[in-house]
Amino acid sequence: MSTETAPVVLTACADGPILVRGDVEIRDAAGRVVPRRRATVALCRCGASGIKPFCDGSHKAIGFRTDDEVPRPPEPVPAPGDGPHRDAP
Ligand code: FES
Repeated sequence: MSTETAPVVLTACADGPILVRGDVEIRDAAGRVVPRRRATVALCRCGASGIKPFCDGSHKAIGFRTDDEVPRPPEPVPAPGDGPHRDAP
C-alpha cells in the first residue's frame, strides 16, 4: 500500500477564485479548521463572497478583474517554403 498523496494544486482563475485541489486543511483566522465538503474547493479572492473563505460566485456580480494574462503559446515559426501559397504572376 502506497502512502503517497497527490500534490496539492492551487489554480488562480482569471477574474475569479483560487481553486484548491488536493488534501489540504483550510483554517480560519482563529486557527479553526474550516470543513470541506469537496475534494476541490474555490477560495474567494475578490472579497465579496457571502460564504468566505469559499467563493459563492459573487465575483461575477461585482465585475472582479485580475491582472492575470493567460499565457499564449508562441507563434509557430514557418519553415522556409512553408509560407502562404502564391501563384506566380
Ligand atoms: S472570488 Fe468568487 S466570490 Fe470572490
